[in-house]
Amino acid sequence: MAEGRNVLPTGEYYNPNVSQYQQIYRRSIDDPEGFWSEHLNILDWFQKPTRILDDSNPPFYRWFVDGKLNASYNALDRHIKGGLRNKAAYIWVAEDGGEKIITYDGLYRRVNNLAKALLNLGLKKGDRIVIYLPMILEAPVAILAAARIGLIFSFVFAGFGAGALAERIRASGARTVITADGGYRNGKVIELKKIVDEALAETSGVDNVIVVRRTGHEVEMEDGRDIWWHEIVGDGVNYVPPEPLDSNDPLYILYTSGTTGKPKGALHGNGGYSVWVANTLKWAFNPSPDDRWWCAADIGWVTGHSYIVFAPLFLGLTSIIYEGSIVYPSPDRMWEIIERYRVNILYTSPTAIRTLMRYGEKYPKMHDLSTLKVLGTVGEPINPSAWKWYYDNIGGGRCPIIDTYWQTETGGFMISPSAQLGLPPLKPGSATFPMPGVDPVVLDEDGREVPPEIKGYLVYRKPWPGMFLTLYNDDDRYVETYFSKYKGMYYCGDYCVKDSDGYFWLLGRADEVLNVAGHRLGTIEIEDALINSPEVAEAAVFGRPDPVKGEVIVAFVVIKEAYEADTEIINKLRSRVRKTLGPIYVPEEIHVVKGLPKTRSGKIMRRVVKAVALDQLPGDVSTLENEATVDEVKKAIELFKKEASENEG
Ligand code: PRX
Repeated sequence: MAEGRNVLPTGEYYNPNVSQYQQIYRRSIDDPEGFWSEHLNILDWFQKPTRILDDSNPPFYRWFVDGKLNASYNALDRHIKGGLRNKAAYIWVAEDGGEKIITYDGLYRRVNNLAKALLNLGLKKGDRIVIYLPMILEAPVAILAAARIGLIFSFVFAGFGAGALAERIRASGARTVITADGGYRNGKVIELKKIVDEALAETSGVDNVIVVRRTGHEVEMEDGRDIWWHEIVGDGVNYVPPEPLDSNDPLYILYTSGTTGKPKGALHGNGGYSVWVANTLKWAFNPSPDDRWWCAADIGWVTGHSYIVFAPLFLGLTSIIYEGSIVYPSPDRMWEIIERYRVNILYTSPTAIRTLMRYGEKYPKMHDLSTLKVLGTVGEPINPSAWKWYYDNIGGGRCPIIDTYWQTETGGFMISPSAQLGLPPLKPGSATFPMPGVDPVVLDEDGREVPPEIKGYLVYRKPWPGMFLTLYNDDDRYVETYFSKYKGMYYCGDYCVKDSDGYFWLLGRADEVLNVAGHRLGTIEIEDALINSPEVAEAAVFGRPDPVKGEVIVAFVVIKEAYEADTEIINKLRSRVRKTLGPIYVPEEIHVVKGLPKTRSGKIMRRVVKAVALDQLPGDVSTLENEATVDEVKKAIELFKKEASENEG
């Protein structure tokens, strides 16, 4: 980490007035009521809240309790009335280079038309709707239409497979799904409608599937269930009044991986979440009204929900939405888009940076990137060398790097430098300091604060407006997962070090959750998918550190005796994981062994498999039942390495 301790000069940055930040931060902690009663004004309320925080039933904190508002109204109507109706809300760039520019007025019209169609289908406030769309303009339209009439939407990232989609449809109890015939990725069509059909063969209860025509390829439409978007939505002129929602009425459910096979449905509300995302975007990135903002995430993850859809629209900004792969048709794709659209702020992931860094400086040099003012990253720890490459080659040494640390559950940024409130000197690899209202502390196993420079667990002592309301239909798991390790405090599940200057360094997950290319994946979900294959008796999955993706997935499996453990089976397992969970879950390596290390009670010791496979010390193995299995793991890895070097040779 030594390399990461360099303090960069502040003078060249935006508002390098760290004492201003400190003052504002202090006030947010000392006088939260006063602070938030001012900062809630970033939105228009139908009924302004008089109570800031109801903490009478911890840990079910409720913000802005008697307030009423509507997120779609704040994203659209108020701008239409307020002089922005002709401003571009989105510049959408197709993977094949085509573009569509949609104004606030155009977006408003389309949202109203879809909201009308959804009402015509009989949907009403509180009903759940699953959105499974690629990166097309219909994605924000669907989100905002749902928000307008008080539906609870659950967006499922289009990279998930049929099994994962079915599980989310079932868990949310949605009766309506919005999808597309397909989406484009690396020049190929991903057949989304087909995946929906497969998912619906596994789960009942869906009455309607609304299908956007994007690729135009032939898809099957089931009579009475499937409807073309363009046939029911049309392009008329409708007005659907925005539902005045309670601040704590739910806005969306977003499923994220946890430490069991069952994903957790983080439930976000309307008021606290909206106030949080709007303020945090302003504080961290300081966008000015004329800037072009590009959050290069997928709308299907929380980053896209908060910082492609809600926050930039609340602030009346112009955003870029790019449909496809960042290396298609060539590795200068991102830089070309920045030049073509004169982008001012770019927000992307460390994996994207490391991927593009591999192609070398030649590609960014092909383009004029001088419009960039601020750069950001999210999703995983950024290593100092990637940070510096981004800073020098993309930001031209002018742009601060806003390393935003947060989670699906937190709704928006929690620890991040603030370009608006005052930047501290940046240290590459540190997310620096908390956003106003956030009270982080690093604790040891016994709940004592650890001294500076010592690794511990990150915990928040106080509730913040963006926090999720609960886990959908599972209050007990909400309390158990987040508020029981340290009573009454929110446990993030991440390791952290606070250095002697008070900077926070996030060091990755402390639980059984993987972070692959910034995607949060549960090891047990992958093990379940493997074990559900008829050939597999046992499975252990873990993450191996990877220089580009942060981590890659490694699986060890025991094949049942009735089957031949050959490459055909491995390929079958790969395609099964792809089909059930989606391509992002497919293990990079699958090793076959005769047995796995277990405790005497029969529990697979994943930790030992990982340590042995990665050539690390396995720690306490006193409970290990069969030592021969450790040699099995060693042998499998040696064989794999030998084969890999032969293939290279
Ligand atoms: O481990 C942390 C990592 O991503 C996890 C949250 O994943 P998810 O809910 O999918 O949200 C991703 C986008 C916010 C965290 O628990 N993480 C996220 N941002 C950072 C990070 N780790 C280090 N530095 C970050 N900036």
